[in-house]
Amino acid sequence: MKVTVVGAGAVGASCAEYIAIKNFASEVVLLDIKEGYAEGKAMDLMQTASLNGFDTKISGSTNDYSKTANSDICVVTSGIPRKPGMTREELIGINAGIVKTVTENLVKHSPETILIIVSNPMDTMTYLAHKTTGLAKNQIIGMGGALDSARFKYRLAEALDAPISDVDGMVIGGHSDTGMVPLTRMATRNSVPVTAFISEARLEQVKEDTKVGGATLTKLLGTSAWYAPGAAVSAMVQAIACDQKKMFPCSTLLEGEYNLNDICIGVPVIIGKNGIEKIVQLELNEAEKTHMQESAEGVRNTNDLLEL
Ligand code: 2OP
Repeated sequence: MKVTVVGAGAVGASCAEYIAIKNFASEVVLLDIKEGYAEGKAMDLMQTASLNGFDTKISGSTNDYSKTANSDICVVTSGIPRKPGMTREELIGINAGIVKTVTENLVKHSPETILIIVSNPMDTMTYLAHKTTGLAKNQIIGMGGALDSARFKYRLAEALDAPISDVDGMVIGGHSDTGMVPLTRMATRNSVPVTAFISEARLEQVKEDTKVGGATLTKLLGTSAWYAPGAAVSAMVQAIACDQKKMFPCSTLLEGEYNLNDICIGVPVIIGKNGIEKIVQLELNEAEKTHMQESAEGVRNTNDLLEL
């Protein structure tokens, strides 16, 4: 199993590290445009192998896509991250061009690959990858919902004063501060609706804290987060590599599901060796449906800025 990660910045390197530590991939190629940077990160990570007990071979490349040839999975983290006060949407001007070039180069060398898009604005970059690569619908997956759901579970556990392993919940919709739809109604603690333990007002606070999860970290760190994004990507890569058939909310091309068409946005999907193997259709209530349509409107407004 060969995995390429484009962008050896904090998110890409964390992602490579988590993939290696889980020891399911034979090879990870890190690629970056900055001379020597990916090689350096790869060497540093390889020097953790005997300490962390993994056999995955990590190598680095400065923009040489021939090194990525025949990758089973390619992860795109390239582009600029947001700075405090910026929205993900504001990155489109620079990141669209980068993601277009990167995805075209990847697919040229790995025509059968499954692409995971992480670069922001993620839903729009996932849509762009559909328009530019010609890959099948199941082969392009946007990473947002897995991360947002992890942040939701963190906030739920905090509010419930419970271990995270006790809570479950999902965030669908666009990967943006206003577009996320945390499904509070369906969140549970060991199968019991969380409203049995916390008030509606506290749950509303959990929802709001979840939606600005990335912005909160950007303010604290001065740049966007990397541990949870890297872990979310590595979980998705593992689901594909190990054909786990796991359910994650991911950005995927919708063709009528959730009453939406020609848009990539977060909905629950089953991930296995073929990438997106199924879109899971949830019964949303009226408020959730409205929130989802508003979220899609926001993603469409950003998609309209693409020069396709
Ligand atoms: C985040 O929310 C990177 O968009 C990503 O942290």
